[in-house]
Amino acid sequence: MLKKENILLVDDDVQILELLQRHLKAMDYHTFKAVSVKEALFILKDTSIDLLITDINMPGVDGIQLVKYVAEHYPQMPKLVVTGFPSVADALSVIQSGATDYLTKPFTKTELETAVKKAMALSGRIKSTKNQTRAQGHADMIGASAAFQEVTEIIERVKDNRATILVRGESGTGKELVARAIHYSGKYARAPFVAVNCGAIPENLLEAELFGYKKGAFTGATEQRNGFFQAAHGGTLFLDEIGNAPQSVQAKLLRALQEKEVTKVGSRKPEQLEVRVIAATNTDLEEAIGKKTFREDLYYRLTVVSISVPPVRDRKEDIPLLVQRFLEKYGVEYKDRFVRITPKALAVLERYSWPGNVRELENVVQRAIIMSDGEVDVEHLPNSLKYKIPFPEQGLVSLREKERQYLQEVLMAMEGNKTKAAKILGIDRKTLREKLR
Ligand SMILES: Nc1ncnc2c1ncn2[C@@H]1O[C@H](COP(=O)(O)OP(=O)(O)OP(=O)(O)O)[C@@H](O)[C@H]1O
Ligand SMILES: [Mg+2]
Repeated sequence: MLKKENILLVDDDVQILELLQRHLKAMDYHTFKAVSVKEALFILKDTSIDLLITDINMPGVDGIQLVKYVAEHYPQMPKLVVTGFPSVADALSVIQSGATDYLTKPFTKTELETAVKKAMALSGRIKSTKNQTRAQGHADMIGASAAFQEVTEIIERVKDNRATILVRGESGTGKELVARAIHYSGKYARAPFVAVNCGAIPENLLEAELFGYKKGAFTGATEQRNGFFQAAHGGTLFLDEIGNAPQSVQAKLLRALQEKEVTKVGSRKPEQLEVRVIAATNTDLEEAIGKKTFREDLYYRLTVVSISVPPVRDRKEDIPLLVQRFLEKYGVEYKDRFVRITPKALAVLERYSWPGNVRELENVVQRAIIMSDGEVDVEHLPNSLKYKIPFPEQGLVSLREKERQYLQEVLMAMEGNKTKAAKILGIDRKTLREKLR
């Protein structure tokens, strides 16, 4: 039997939602309801939706913006807009937003049925491409720069086989995201993805956690247990911070990779497993080999395929795209709408060197959104960023400008309280007011 198709209904009017749901259920569709765009985005993220039906006028983010968002992120999904104002201008703006079709309120059951069938037929025609894009676990990964394209290309090449992969890169560059993208875009996506941080588990426990243990293997081993390897059977085991794995574990890992079998702690009977291992490191493994803290043979086993995730400073073209993604994500989360950024503030972000890479960028944007009022400007960015300018002569500003910046900084720290700010600046309130002017 054919799987029921999923329809996402978005309307702040619960009665309309229910009416739509009743009609669509009768037509044998499966429905999801959202009373706001924010809720709709959460459902879109986790569910495979075949058709979107949305109202336009809603508090917070409106339906047109949702349609634009869906057009951009799920281009193949048909979008049906329900509108109460059937003026020509409205109809035009609806269609321009990328909507497939629109339905005017009040509509009859037959009108709804016709519109849905038409939209579904359209989606049927493009179904094969739709499934392709949905399978792409990289949907969450941003990167159009040449440096990042190399990463995406390797992912494409390795996602469907079980070759061991080493992902390298500075802290916060997205190594774990790459590992997940490989798993979730490949043909083993339905099997488990198990992530283990080798640096976070105490040395004496890591071996048992990874490979499992037999009853009585050590004090406290009251019954047999599986480890992460067994848990990842059929899928992917992500070994984060592999450089921190102790020598005893390294030896056992090597065997697991070579023989494709693992032995529980306290056991002699090896178990055959089908597991793809993706390891990650932000430390220099070659140096660790030199210091004899990392086994060379394991290193060669791990680097069959090696992916280097470039730092943000080497792919500055991606900064605006990343910023856009985080504005959408956290804008909806914190402010219930899409937050914008001024060109000036974006320029500051583009100029910075991002030693903490994407993670730092994500945190900065997140914080700026919270501080802002729907539009991120330079004042919402941390000072460390604003004054870090790579060219010496550019970093030097006039005394007057410096004074202005400092006044602003103090005022911001005092949350706009001029009395407190004046006190810190060592001037009286009147002088401060004059300077501010
Ligand atoms: N290309 C990208 N597009 C969108 N988000 C990204 C991208 N790269 C990284 N991120 C985000 O940045 C954050 C850090 O990524 P991740 O945890 O994968 O980095 P990491 O390299 O594993 O860091 P660490 O070395 O500190 O463990 C995550 O929130 C991730 O979602
Ligand atoms: Mg990580």
